[in-house]
Amino acid sequence: MWRGRTGLWGWGLYCVAVAWIVIIAGCVSEALDTREGRQTLAEGRFAPRKLLQTDADWDMWAAALLNDTDDFFAALEDGADVNVSLGFEGACPCTALILSSDAGNLQIVQALISADADLDAATAKGAATAIFAASQKGRSAIVDVLIAAGADVEKARSTGATPLMVAAENAHAGVVGALLRGGADAGAADGVGQTALHLASMKIGEASREIAEALIDAGANIEARDADMWTPLIWAAHFGNVGTFSVLLERGADPAVKDASGGGLEDHICQCPLVPETATGLVCPEGGCDSGAADAIAEMLRS
Ligand SMILES: *[C@@H]1O[C@H](CO)[C@@H](O)[C@H](O)[C@H]1NC(C)=O
Ligand SMILES: *[C@@H]1O[C@H](CO)[C@@H](O)[C@H](O)[C@H]1NC(C)=O
Repeated sequence: MWRGRTGLWGWGLYCVAVAWIVIIAGCVSEALDTREGRQTLAEGRFAPRKLLQTDADWDMWAAALLNDTDDFFAALEDGADVNVSLGFEGACPCTALILSSDAGNLQIVQALISADADLDAATAKGAATAIFAASQKGRSAIVDVLIAAGADVEKARSTGATPLMVAAENAHAGVVGALLRGGADAGAADGVGQTALHLASMKIGEASREIAEALIDAGANIEARDADMWTPLIWAAHFGNVGTFSVLLERGADPAVKDASGGGLEDHICQCPLVPETATGLVCPEGGCDSGAADAIAEMLRS
C-alpha cells in the first residue's frame, strides 16, 4: 500500500519533470533561431540552467555563442566548467572552445586553453572539433594556438573529413600551411576516398593552386583515387580548374589516367553543368568552364 503510493507519486513527479524539460527545451530551441532570441537566452529569461548546469556554466557558454568576451570572462571568474557542452539545435551541443574557435575569438580560445579545456571535444552532431571549426572558417591564428596547445590535427568528423580537408575545400591556404607544419597527414582520405588534394582541385583560384603545391610538397599522393576512381587531375579537368590542373600536370600527374568506367581526361573536361537549374551533378564553379577553361585544358593536354 505504502509502496504503491510512493510509486505513483514518483511517476507523477517524473512526468511533471519530463513535461517541464520538454517545454523548456522547446522554448530554448526556438530562442536560438533568432538573434533577439539568443539575447533573451543570454539574459537568462529562460531558465533551463537551473535544471542541469550552474548559472556560470550557462553564462559562459552563452557568452561564447554570442562572442561576448567580457561576459565570458565574468562567467569564467564565477567558476564556470570550461568543458561544459550545451546546445539544442544546429551544430551544437558543443563546448565553448568550439564556439569561440568558430567565431575567431582568440582571447577566449587562449583563456580556455589556459583553463585546461578539452581541446579535442567534438560537436554532438557531426563530431567537429575546435580545430576543425577554426580550419573551416580560415582562422589560422586560432589553428596555430590550438596546435601549439596540443590539439589533435587529425581528428576527423563523422564523414571522415579532417581539418586539412575542410581548409582545402574552402581555399584557406594559411590554415593548410599551419596544419601541415603541425603534422597533419597530407594524404588522409575521407569516407568517399577524397583527399585534401581532390578538394583543392575542385576549387578555382590562386589559393587553391598554392594549396595544391603545399599538399604535394608535403607528400600528398598525386594519383589518389576517390570512390569513383577519380584522381585530383580528373576533378580539375571536370570543373575547368586550369590553375590546379597545370600544377598537377607539372608535378607529374598522369594525363593518361582513366576513371572507373574507362573514361579519360578528354571525357571529363568541363563536364560539370553550367546552369544550376539543369544540374544533376555539382555545378561548375565560376571562373572556369564559363571562361574558356575547356580550351585551355585541351591545349595543355596536346602540348
Ligand atoms: C568575435 O569577437 C572577436 C573579438 O572581438 C572578433 O575578432 C571576431 O571577429 C568576432 N567574430 C564574429 C563572428 O563576429
Ligand atoms: C577538461 O577535459 C579535459 C579532457 O578530458 C581534462 O583533461 C581537463 O582536466 C578538463 N578540465 C577541467 C577544468 O575539468
